[in-house]
Amino acid sequence: MFGRRAWIGLALAGFTALAGCGKKDEVKKDGGPAASGQGATAAPQTGDILVGAYLSLSGEETQFGKDTQEGIDLATDEVNQAGGVKGRKIKVLYEDDKSNAAEATQKVRQLIDRKVVALLGEVASSRSLAGGLIANTSKIPMITPSSTAVKVTTGREYVFRVCFTDDAQGVAAAEFVAQKLNKKKVSILYAAQDPYSSGLAESFRETAKKLGLEIVADKGFQKGEKNFRTYLEQVTAPKPDIIFTPIYYSDMVPIAQQAKEKNIPGSMFLGGDGWDSEDLLKGAGAELDGAYFTNHYAPDVPWENSKKFVAAYKERFKRDPSSLAAQGYDAARLLYDAMGRAGVIEPKAIRDALAATKGFQGATGTISMDANRNADKPLVVVQIKDKKFQYFATTNEKK
Ligand code: PHE
Repeated sequence: MFGRRAWIGLALAGFTALAGCGKKDEVKKDGGPAASGQGATAAPQTGDILVGAYLSLSGEETQFGKDTQEGIDLATDEVNQAGGVKGRKIKVLYEDDKSNAAEATQKVRQLIDRKVVALLGEVASSRSLAGGLIANTSKIPMITPSSTAVKVTTGREYVFRVCFTDDAQGVAAAEFVAQKLNKKKVSILYAAQDPYSSGLAESFRETAKKLGLEIVADKGFQKGEKNFRTYLEQVTAPKPDIIFTPIYYSDMVPIAQQAKEKNIPGSMFLGGDGWDSEDLLKGAGAELDGAYFTNHYAPDVPWENSKKFVAAYKERFKRDPSSLAAQGYDAARLLYDAMGRAGVIEPKAIRDALAATKGFQGATGTISMDANRNADKPLVVVQIKDKKFQYFATTNEKK
């Protein structure tokens, strides 16, 4: 819906170039997945059903991976305890991509070589773009629980998501500023090379302009930067009412700490779903008191479907689930549901069943797949208060 710019990312230029222009993705036959061609071969119809999950289980965004894994484990155990799918148990093979896109590519290749019939992963859009290229070329269906960058599913017939896209999230964030907070002047601070952060910033920027907000500063920082003090001076100098920071918690913690040194109140910041981590609360919960962010879900969300999941998760893991856990759970449950609806447990039939999903009752809302394999879902706004995430509002509530 909105035009994407060339700054989508240097590291990803190769992938986005392949994904763009309606051109089909291609992977050279260098012993990779295209050569193994598993999508075309018949999957075994007895024994455990093998599902691959590639996640950030170490590295920068470890919390993303761990939370998602817990959600997937909960879903898998529930389904297996209830008899599995078509009388067969599901076995999830996990791979750690170390929060790195190149590793994600390799891990997806390895999982496909191990004959998985479907893939779950990744959380971060940069890694889902990388892994999704391999999954799509190999014709193995993949569901990302939480990658919101628009391009993740574009033109990739085998790639699905159970979350909303950043186009929807950027619009919701800008509307929240203009219509709920009734603010006027905004600054934007984002991660220039990251497809999630820059895509979300772009969507916000476009809607903000349409709504008559004034963008008084707009700064992209570089990957690996740790000292944000100059950026903070630049984005606060023109006296904004709000600073939009659509970045991951791993960058937001030092930014919030450095903002505190400059007496910038936490309530000036507005984030996106990348903030959702216990690590944000631990590292900068006090500094961000009063801040808001758009998200998929909150543990205290007043949705009937979420309650059963929250209770089961708390009982097993003794803490509140993050949205990552809820989305990992939904991605896995939806995959197993599609397997049940598929005529046969093989990649193409599972893909077709996933594409046909309508009204699936997930912990993060009711999920129907649209023609572009994206879930059309409500968004929530969460506020940080007393070092806790608190449900604040639901936007674009669905019929
Ligand atoms: N939406 C983020 C991305 O696309 C990942 C994310 C999802 C982070 C949910 C936190 C919570 O990269």
